[in-house]
Amino acid sequence: MRIIMLGPPGAGKGTQAVKLAERLKVPHISTGDILRRNVAKKTKLGQHAQKYMAAGKLVPDDVVIEMTAKRLKEPDAKRGFILDGFPRNLAQATALDGLAEIDAVVNLFLDPEDLVKRSTGRWVCPNCDAVYHVLTNPPKRRGVCDKCGSAIIQREDDKEEVVRTRIRTYDDQTAPLVAHYKGKGLLRDVYASGHIAEVQHRILEVLRL
Ligand code: AP5
Repeated sequence: MRIIMLGPPGAGKGTQAVKLAERLKVPHISTGDILRRNVAKKTKLGQHAQKYMAAGKLVPDDVVIEMTAKRLKEPDAKRGFILDGFPRNLAQATALDGLAEIDAVVNLFLDPEDLVKRSTGRWVCPNCDAVYHVLTNPPKRRGVCDKCGSAIIQREDDKEEVVRTRIRTYDDQTAPLVAHYKGKGLLRDVYASGHIAEVQHRILEVLRL
């Protein structure tokens, strides 16, 4: 299956995408993770993207579309994929139409203040991209990734003022995609409140898995 995870920052797209990808045995493709790896390695792409990410703005379309097109052409994506963080505006959605046929768009929605709490409490593993939350999803050992044992960190863009800018960026530029995919009959709305397992159950239900 080829699935898009749509939703504002902190809704739980990454957390749910990992579980869905494991279940369907397809890759989880997160444009945010790919960009962060490039920033960490100080590649040309990372150096270009960093200032936009730190400010809570979208990285320019030409850069992100080329990067995603390249990733979708890799052999593991032939069987399907869970696309997390792309597309983020109508130009990216139009580009994606030319790259792959999408089966469903899972639209996670949540109260804005809950989005802020989720993002400001998030810790991530810079080595394997695992995601934790200080209150709702802590690692077994404080500060240490359960999966690979690396020291976990907070994302630069999870400071409250940047989180609020990211939510505004989502409302202005990405939210119009809800109507876009509804018009195509692909949208599956899922309320993202409650335990991670409960949200997962709702997603499996709307996808009939
Ligand atoms: P990206 O990394 O994609 O960030 P985002 O879309 O803002 O989404 P997040 O990663 O913040 O949240 P999420 O919904 O995945 O939530 P998560 O599962 O982590 O993008 C970062 C930046 O890169 C962008 O701002 C932009 O600059 C750039 N970028 C990326 N793609 C781009 C594109 N296509 N075009 C242009 N620029 C692009 O969960 C959040 C927290 O909540 C975690 O702590 C988690 O443990 C916890 N949690 C999850 N589910 C639950 C639950 N049910 N109950 C309690 N806690 C939960």
